Amino acid sequence: MSKVLVTGGTGYIGSHTVVELINEGFEVVIVDNLSNSNVEVLNGIEKITGVRPAFENIDCVDYVAMDNMMDKYGKIDAIIHFAASKAVGESVEKPLLYYRNNLVSLINLLQLMPVHKIKNFVFSSSCTVYGQPDILPVTEGAPIKPALSPYGNTKQIGEEIIRDTIYANPTSYQSIVLRYFNPIGAHASAEIGELPNGVPNNLLPFVTQTAIGLRKQLQVFGNDYDTPDGSCIRDYIHVVDLAKAHVIAVKRMLDGKSGDSLETFNLGTGRGLSVLEIIKTFEEVNQVKVPYKIVSRREGDIEKVWADPTYANEVLGWKAMETVEETLRSAWAWELNLANRKN
Ligand code: UFG
Repeated sequence: MSKVLVTGGTGYIGSHTVVELINEGFEVVIVDNLSNSNVEVLNGIEKITGVRPAFENIDCVDYVAMDNMMDKYGKIDAIIHFAASKAVGESVEKPLLYYRNNLVSLINLLQLMPVHKIKNFVFSSSCTVYGQPDILPVTEGAPIKPALSPYGNTKQIGEEIIRDTIYANPTSYQSIVLRYFNPIGAHASAEIGELPNGVPNNLLPFVTQTAIGLRKQLQVFGNDYDTPDGSCIRDYIHVVDLAKAHVIAVKRMLDGKSGDSLETFNLGTGRGLSVLEIIKTFEEVNQVKVPYKIVSRREGDIEKVWADPTYANEVLGWKAMETVEETLRSAWAWELNLANRKN
């Protein structure tokens, strides 16, 4: 049984990926400092899979603790590195926190990999590296635009650190960099989902929390963009589809199928939807109202971006399968389940 270390494994994308890894027969070790997640996520993972993964409450910034943890677990076949701070606005206010958390963690892992004879590395990157692309849908070959936030910059620099490290040591490492578009939704069981601490920054948790009455009103940031209805367009992808791509990436490296020691893939659906379309579809499929008002633009927002996922479709043999309707149903089922737990 191959063993995968998942940093940030109790987080939103991490927990869904852990479920898919266990379902595919991998042994999983989670490292997470619970800075933006809850240890109870392990219960949800166990309910779905029947397996409780090993868990270590460690900050990836702590080199010694990570070194000791790797000693403890013996042979690790691959690392999927999710652990990172990800709030765009907060990163503008606290840049050093972001550079430290996101870059020191990455450097620690890359330094520890040869020490522990770990060769395979999957990195969580983001479509944010493209900024506002000149050509849509955006392919992996599109130019990297100057980052609009320290958070975005950590993803760009992270990719560069990985590239330079592999270039210098091509026999010690291979990596797959995954550029996520906008993950939304929850596992079909509604046992795990997105649970941001405090006021959500992202659209979908704000939509579900407004629909259930936790928030009075959703703010739609701008309706004067150059898009059909004036609101911003994104490529929203079901988090389980996204999770499955990680399992494929790990298998690809373990099976020696990678075409190169560093490969980069867009993970999106290829379909762009506006904020207003998301709200309308959410209301329709779930038969619930989402009170909202249009407010001014949010600083740093990209007008429109959606993926060309052809490269991932063809090379990884992976495709986003879920409809947006089903995805929005799953997001609502998760919010309802959370509310039931509290009552
Ligand atoms: N939006 C609203 N109201 C809200 C929240 C969001 O109208 O309350 C709009 C935004 O203006 C944007 C769209 O919904 O048009 C999506 O916004 P998100 O904040 O959900 O996601 P972003 O596309 O802004 O993505 C950003 C970064 C990603 C990062 C992601 C998760 O660009 O790299 O947040 O933190 F991964």
